[in-house]
Amino acid sequence: MNLDELKSVANAIVARQKGVLAADESSPTIKKRFDSIQVESTEENRRRYREILFTADGIERYVGGVILFDETLRQCTREGVPFPKLLAGRGIIPGIKVDQGAKALALCPGDKVTEGLDGLRERLAEYKQLGAQFAKWRAVIEIDERDLPSAFGIRANAHALARYAALCQEAGLVPIVEPEVLMDGAHGIERCEVVTAQVLQAVFAELDFHRVQFEGMLLKPNMVIAGKKSVQQAGVQAVAETTIRCLKRYVPAAVPGIVFLSGGQSAEDATDHLNAMNAMGAHPWQVSFSYGRALQAPVLAAWRGQEIHVAAAQRALLKRCRLNGLARDGQYVR
Ligand code: 13P
Repeated sequence: MNLDELKSVANAIVARQKGVLAADESSPTIKKRFDSIQVESTEENRRRYREILFTADGIERYVGGVILFDETLRQCTREGVPFPKLLAGRGIIPGIKVDQGAKALALCPGDKVTEGLDGLRERLAEYKQLGAQFAKWRAVIEIDERDLPSAFGIRANAHALARYAALCQEAGLVPIVEPEVLMDGAHGIERCEVVTAQVLQAVFAELDFHRVQFEGMLLKPNMVIAGKKSVQQAGVQAVAETTIRCLKRYVPAAVPGIVFLSGGQSAEDATDHLNAMNAMGAHPWQVSFSYGRALQAPVLAAWRGQEIHVAAAQRALLKRCRLNGLARDGQYVR
C-alpha cells in the first residue's frame, strides 16, 4: 500500500470548494428515480442520463469525485470516451460503489447487513484497471425508538465495512466508509445521536483492528437529525451542532475528510445543514458533501427524459454543485 498516494487522492476529493457527486444508484434504485419522471430504465437511458451529469459545464470546480455504479464505469459518451476517462480528463476523480446491497441479518429481526465481500479483492483489481481511484461501501443501520439497531447489527456492519476498507487500501483505492443511520421513522434527534455515536465508535474500533490507515480514507456518515416522521424536527443550527459534537467524539482527527450523505433531506436542507456546520469554524477534518438525491433531484425534475431539457438539467446540477461548494466552506447564503 502506498499511503502517500491514498492520502493525496483523499485530500483531492475534499479540496476547498469541492465534494462528491454520488451517481452510483444500482439498477433497482435508478429505476425508482426514473419511474418518478416516467422515463424507462433502459441501458441507453441510464447511459444518457449519466452522460448529461458528467458533461455539465463547470461542475469540475465543485466536484472532486464522482461515485459510479459497475455498469456506468464501463459505459462511454456518445463519442466513445469511457466515463472514467472523461471524468479524469476534467480533473474529477472516478470512484466505484463496490457493495452488493443490504440484506436482512439472520436471526436479528429488523437489522440489515451489507453483502459483497466475496471476490472483492479481484473486483477491486479490475476497477482500478478501469480507472477507479476510490470506492464506496454503504452499511444501512435501521433505527427505531428503542430496539433497533441491535448491538450485534452494529457490530456485523462495522466488521464488514472494515474488511472492505482494508481490501481497498491493499488495492490502492481510497475507501469511502459509509455507515448510514437512516432518517426513516419517528425517533427524535437525541435518539439519532445515541445510535450514530454507537455506530461510529464501533466502526472506528473495527477499522483500527483491521489496520486501516485513517489518513487514507474518507467517512461518509449521516447527519444527526430527527426521523422524517418525528413531530419534533430540529432546526438547522441544532442539527449542525449535534452532528459536529457527535463526530468530534468518535471520528479521529487523522481522517482527512467527512463527506455527508443527504439521505432523503431536501436539496435545500442538505445545503443549509452543511453550511451551518462549516460556519461553526474549522474542524479537525474537511466537512463536505457526497450527495446523491440532494444533487440529482432537481436535475431529474428538469430533464424528464427529454433532449430539449438537457441544458436546463445541466444548469440545475451546476447550481446545486455551486451552492454546496459554497456551503462546504461556510459561505452559502440562502
Ligand atoms: P443520498 O445523498 O441520496 O443519500 O445518496 C448518497 C449515497 O451515495 C447513498 O449511498
